[in-house]
Amino acid sequence: MALTKNESRPPVLTIDGPSGAGKGAVSAAVARRLGWNALDSGAVYRSVALAALERGVAADDEQALVELTRNVDLTFRAGSDGIGVFLGDREVGGSLRTEEVSVMASRVAAIPAVRAALLELQRAYRVMPGLVADGRDMGTIVFPDAELKVFLEASVEERAKRRYNQLKEKGESVILSRLFRDMQARDRRDRERSVAPTVPAADAAVVDSTHLSLDEVIGHVVGLARERFGDQVPKDENQ
Ligand code: DC
Repeated sequence: MALTKNESRPPVLTIDGPSGAGKGAVSAAVARRLGWNALDSGAVYRSVALAALERGVAADDEQALVELTRNVDLTFRAGSDGIGVFLGDREVGGSLRTEEVSVMASRVAAIPAVRAALLELQRAYRVMPGLVADGRDMGTIVFPDAELKVFLEASVEERAKRRYNQLKEKGESVILSRLFRDMQARDRRDRERSVAPTVPAADAAVVDSTHLSLDEVIGHVVGLARERFGDQVPKDENQ
């Protein structure tokens, strides 16, 4: 059933799923098409990780990590190329994708008190006209009352292949079989971790992108949003 325009709470569309399923690209494009705000929660964990690395906080010093998380001055706002991620006044987007930050982010994300400290910050992005939030636990924990939840999957083979092509394009030398193995191990850790495991919410629409192009997935999710939110989302000028 489509929602009516005078629902006062800002609507939320959550997009969760394992790494490499295309959540980031799909969420950014869907937010643009709907004219809604976007929350990249992976960037939230990565920013905390970067701040920790810069301040020399050890990955196993939970107390210091929680303290740092509570005080982190993290914002998403207009940056050098669209929406940027800022720590204080410094735009840090470019530094968030290194291997060092990825490893630290996954350690930081496994600490329950860190996750709890980030709940309010993430929920504050639920503002009009609406929010597209992507991550692992958007539909299960951060926005359990989201009006539309998508869980984006793709086979591990396909996700490893996509990652391989991305890295190749950047000129990095990579071995497909190794990426595949790493991804399988990461999936298992993410699905089986006790805090906020990467599993679909009971009321999520599971979308398998293994045999779909990026544009097809975006079109499908925009279609679901249009069905669910009715005239809370703009009409598509391409139709
Ligand atoms: O999606 P990503 O690779 O940018 O996420 C970075 C890390 O943060 C990764 O280890 C998963 C974790 N994460 C999480 O635990 N919960 C989220 N909502 C988003 C990311």
